[in-house]
Order: sequence, then structure tokens, then C-alpha cells
Amino acid sequence: MSAVVRDVKDLRQHIVPWQRKGQIVGLVPTMGALHAGHMALVQAAKGKCDRVVTTIFVNPTQFGAGEDLDSYPDTFQDDLALLSEAAVDLVFAPTRQIVYPEGFATRVEVDGLTDMLCGATRPGHFDGVTQVVAKLLNMAGTDHAFFGEKDWQQLAVIRRMAADLNFSTEIQGVGIVRAEDGLALSSRNAYLTSAERAVAPALNAALMEAAHDIRSGMSAAGACAKASEAVLSAGFERVDYLECRDAVRLTLADHPDAPARVFGAAFLGRARLIDNVSIF
Ligand code: PAJ
Repeated sequence: MSAVVRDVKDLRQHIVPWQRKGQIVGLVPTMGALHAGHMALVQAAKGKCDRVVTTIFVNPTQFGAGEDLDSYPDTFQDDLALLSEAAVDLVFAPTRQIVYPEGFATRVEVDGLTDMLCGATRPGHFDGVTQVVAKLLNMAGTDHAFFGEKDWQQLAVIRRMAADLNFSTEIQGVGIVRAEDGLALSSRNAYLTSAERAVAPALNAALMEAAHDIRSGMSAAGACAKASEAVLSAGFERVDYLECRDAVRLTLADHPDAPARVFGAAFLGRARLIDNVSIF
């Protein structure tokens, strides 16, 4: 069974002696409800590090009003079983009181990269993400921290923050884990009914088609408009965004000549699904 600690003192009591012995430590921050996507981060961490610490904390400051904070899936015992099976060395599962004690007043904001895509429709979301990730990196002080490319914008924002604030933890990106039909694994897929689950892969299919169209010379605006139509006619209720952007700066790219990706977010039943694919 992986050891579970709740507070920062206990967390450090495990990590510091490992580092004193010269062991490399990796951190995998999560909000729990673990699936194979999270476990790919754990495996990547195990590949690069001697010790792996996973955090489970549903961070209230990254949820907007009316979002799913109160109903976010809680599968703590199953999560622990998965992490133990993967031989994760330590699980850090702090309470809200430990992360945000009385009097907490500090914000961490990254400009620019947080204005578009998910930042445009989820105001304050990335401020909450950078706030908690900054804290987790400082609390754990690990050599590496692993984040998934499924949340590409989140990864870009965290890389920017870590560079700008001279965090000594190295940020590592890990590729997207998908179901066989292309749907990116997500804790929020649990919200889908079986009929919606059958529709859900249409988002990835449309992004792949748009990437193909752009590679073939179609303007990104045209390819993305066509892909939005495909997502809607497959049964999604609304497209939040479907855009081609530079992979690093996240600026719009109509005829990309540097690494770029097609990003999509769309609503299906209770779920808002996001995905992104590479153009080249
Ligand atoms: P959460 O949604 O639990 O995701 C934790 C990590 O798993 C993130 O880095 C996310 O990108 C990665 N991940 C999720 N699904 C994936 C998939 N299908 N393939 C690859 N990686 C995947 O993202 C968060 O939590 C939070 O914002 C957090 C960073 C923990 C801060 O609260």
C-alpha cells in the first residue's frame, strides 16, 4: 500500500531523506478520479525518477461558480488501490484547510496565455490552477513534475509560470491517453450517459479531420468551421471553441508554419469535453 500523508511536514519528511540520498523524485498532481491517463503520468514519472509522489486534491479555486466542484467524482479508495498497484511511493492528499489556511491571500497569475481557449470561457480557472500548482511544487520540492498534454493550455501556462518564477522543479509533458475510439480519457467522461458516450469520440474525429485539412492546405479558419459543424451534427449541444493555434505561444495560426495544434472544447450533456491534436 502506498503511504498517504495529509500535511506538508509529513510530505517533506518522506521526500527530503530521498533527495539527501541522491534519489530523483517526481510529482504527479491530480484531482483524483484516476484513470489510465493519470496512470500514464505515473508511469512516465517512474521511468524518469527513483521515487514518485502523487497528489490528490480537488482544488476549489480553479472551479468557477456553477461548475462541478461539489459533484466532482470522488473515488479515493479506488485511486489509492490504483496508485498502490503502480507502486507509487507516496500519496499526498491534503485537506482544503492545509492548502488554504485561514488568512491565505496570495494569487499567482500568468498573463496572455490564459486569455484564450479555456481561459476565455472559464474566467479565473487558470489563476486557480497556477495558484495550487505553485503551492504543490513548493510544498513537495521535487526534481520533476508531470502534466498531461490533454490539458495542453494548462501545461503551457504551468511551463510559463515555472520559468518566470524560477521554480527548480522541471516540468514534463506526457502524451494524451485515449480510448480505442479516440475519446481522450477524462474524469469528466463519467458524466456521460451511454448515448452521449457514443457521440463523444466525434470531437477527436473532427479535430483530426481539421488537422488533416490544414496540412492539405485549407485555411485553419475554414477547416475549424467545418469541424465545428461536424461536432454539432454528431450530437454535441454546443461548441465552446474549435481553433488552430501555435503550440507554444497559443496565438491563432491560420496557415501554420511552426508547430501548431487544433484545440476543441464542446458541451455534451453534463460534460464539457476538451481535446487537442497536433498539425505537425
Ligand atoms: P486532473 O484533471 O485530475 O488531471 C491531472 C493530470 O492528468 C493533468 O496533468 C492532466 O493533463 C492529466 N491527464 C488527464 N487526462 C489525461 C489523458 N487522457 N492523457 C494524458 N494526461 C491526462 O489537471 C488537473 O487535474 C488539475 O488542474 C491539477 C493540475 C491537478 C491542478 O489542480
